[in-house]
Amino acid sequence: MPNSTLSDNENKQTHPPKKIHVETWGCQMNSADSERIYALMAQKGYQPTLATEDADLIVLNTCNIREKARHKVVSRLGLLRDMKSLKPGLKIALAGCVAQAEGKSLLKELPYLDVVVGPGTIDDLPKLITEHGEKSNVNFSLGFQKMRRDLPTPNVKEIRTVSSEEVATASLADKNEVSRYLNINQGCNNFCTFCVVPFTRGPEISRHPDDIAADAEALIRQGAKEITLLGQNVNSYGLDLMRPEETIEGEHTPFIDLLLKIAALDGLERLRFTTSNPHDFTYPLAQVFKLEPKLGRYIHLPVQSGSDSMLEAMHRKTTVEEYFQRLSWLREIHPDMAISSDLIVGFPGESDQDFDDTLSLLKKARFSFVFAFKYSPRKGTAASRFKQQIDESIKTQRLAELNKIQDQITLEHNLGEIGEEREVLVLYKHKKEENTYYGRTLHNRLVKIHAEKNIVGRLMPVCIREASKIALVGTLL
Ligand code: 5AD
Ligand code: SF4
Repeated sequence: MPNSTLSDNENKQTHPPKKIHVETWGCQMNSADSERIYALMAQKGYQPTLATEDADLIVLNTCNIREKARHKVVSRLGLLRDMKSLKPGLKIALAGCVAQAEGKSLLKELPYLDVVVGPGTIDDLPKLITEHGEKSNVNFSLGFQKMRRDLPTPNVKEIRTVSSEEVATASLADKNEVSRYLNINQGCNNFCTFCVVPFTRGPEISRHPDDIAADAEALIRQGAKEITLLGQNVNSYGLDLMRPEETIEGEHTPFIDLLLKIAALDGLERLRFTTSNPHDFTYPLAQVFKLEPKLGRYIHLPVQSGSDSMLEAMHRKTTVEEYFQRLSWLREIHPDMAISSDLIVGFPGESDQDFDDTLSLLKKARFSFVFAFKYSPRKGTAASRFKQQIDESIKTQRLAELNKIQDQITLEHNLGEIGEEREVLVLYKHKKEENTYYGRTLHNRLVKIHAEKNIVGRLMPVCIREASKIALVGTLL
């Protein structure tokens, strides 16, 4: 490390602290990875900044899930080139899934890009930044070999310090002290034919349950009341940690054990998890919603399509009937269970009938909300090579039709909340409006509340008075 012979004080006098700015695209996994980037660079003396012009290091933590997301990254890199020409000492790092997929070629194409790290090699970033150009010519670290379970537990305390409200980037500011993400596994073995994740994040690797519990305890000490366990496919958590001779006893999968272990922690009010693949969503897992009230009444369960032939072509391993069976397990326990989902329109070969089947599924499932996407061919994935790719104009039309139907269903759900009394976990204060707070119900619906005193972090009884498609408005009881 440069200046390692100087004492801390001398170091501060001679060099003002360097500043890091991380821009985050994509999924919650990336948000959690950005927190880790801040924490890792803090160990090298980098302080976070919201202002790109103050930064000595800008990290783009990128998403490659759809072409649109990748395209945004490439145009952002173009803008950073101009910034670097004004500030030659500025370092630019590319991280995340675009880095893993295309980092090496981007390094060749873009001379102003300094270093590249993939999602599996984030921990190499500090070394690359401090040594590249001085001690070493190495400017990238990619691949999946670095298993996080082999690394010391991330210092969550430090992560929180560096991403505290005053200094967090806009994306991190969305997340707050009360509701925190916690990574439990990375990568995916499912190879859905549309999805680039197994190529950019590699095979499934689970963290040790004791490390996860230690992190959860640290988050709770820092003020977390809600934790969301994160993974590309949380339901298969821990299967890779089992020895070949081990079997699952009494249908208790490692994920169920982990849920019960974390839910038992004192001080935690709510426990959520995402994302689940319906394929490994079992009946015993559904039963945990009955056993453990902290899980609340909400789950995200991506279905992708309402047509069996599309699901087969997507390699989803679950039929429409099996998907509805999972919904019925959940709704047997809580008839008002809020369920959200992901859907893709315009997958190769999707006929008018297939699309109608998706609309029928939507009307029958009555999701609380959905994330719907136009199919986007991704390099290396099986579906990108399928014949019968669908016209962009048809995809656009189908997406609009689907969203219109879902918007109405979401609105109906929200209007149905009016007059109900709900327990709201208050997550944050409105940045500008006085005495205005936002929180979420057990069903994960966003509620705006007026309060005269600070209620952040508290569970408040609220009566719902108004509703729109986006959020509810409630008054404190
Ligand atoms: N095109 C469109 N949507 C995609 N998703 C993943 N890959 C693609 C793709 N190639 C969607 C799926 C997934 C969500 C995270 O993103 O719906 O569940
Ligand atoms: Fe992608 Fe399928 Fe894995 Fe989800 S389960 S990350 S959609 S391959």
